[in-house]
Amino acid sequence: MTGGAGFIGNYLVDRLMSKGFDVIVLDDFSSGSMKNLDSPVGKSNFRLVNGDVRNKNVVKKALKNVDVVDRLKRGEEPIIHGDGEQTRNFVFVGDVVDTYLRAMKSKNFAGDVINVGAGVEVSINRLANVLTELPNLHGVKFVYAEPMAVDIRRSCPDLSKAERLLGYKPEVSLRKGLAMLFRELRVRRP
Ligand SMILES: NC(=O)c1ccc[n+]([C@@H]2O[C@H](COP(=O)([O-])OP(=O)(O)OC[C@H]3O[C@@H](n4cnc5c(N)ncnc54)[C@H](O)[C@@H]3O)[C@@H](O)[C@H]2O)c1
Repeated sequence: MTGGAGFIGNYLVDRLMSKGFDVIVLDDFSSGSMKNLDSPVGKSNFRLVNGDVRNKNVVKKALKNVDVVDRLKRGEEPIIHGDGEQTRNFVFVGDVVDTYLRAMKSKNFAGDVINVGAGVEVSINRLANVLTELPNLHGVKFVYAEPMAVDIRRSCPDLSKAERLLGYKPEVSLRKGLAMLFRELRVRRP
């Protein structure tokens, strides 16, 4: 699995290993972290290959005896750049991981490129509101700052291909996902 030391990747590694898969992670640690691999490292069904997926030899090394290949971050006082009306597509990591698992098992899916997301456009202001409604974030104040030099105004992927090929439907709402994420962060952080 490429990118296994990344944010999404490490969840997928954990999920696959808990299902009994042997997992090989290929990651160049350009944005990933060894900390994300604390739990699988040292287990007999886990192997780590440190390298760039664009390097054929590295991939060959990682793929030795492999039958499953898949591909696949966090602040102080929160800052909202610009007016906060730019939109994003916040999908729960568990929904993304489920999709990858579906793709691995699906007979209709071979080398297809699909969008994975929540399918709901959410402004950063709306996100900030939902966050401040979480029990442990009550009273948090967001500060507005200059817009980012390059920023996408709207982001909303078309999920119809994922739905058609994989029956993909994101299941966890923004509010529920954020509540779960914050509970998990507290557990996972020392
Ligand atoms: N985070 C999200 O909410 C989200 C939602 C949907 C889709 N995605 C997509 O999923 C993918 C992973 O997102 P993420 O948040 O886990 O990012 P991430 O930066 O945490 O993870 C990416 C991983 O890939 C590794 N990597 C990058 N280039 C590499 C290379 N050339 N060779 C080997 N390893 C390499 C990095 O070191 C890192 O461990 C991205 O394509 C992202 O656009 C992310």
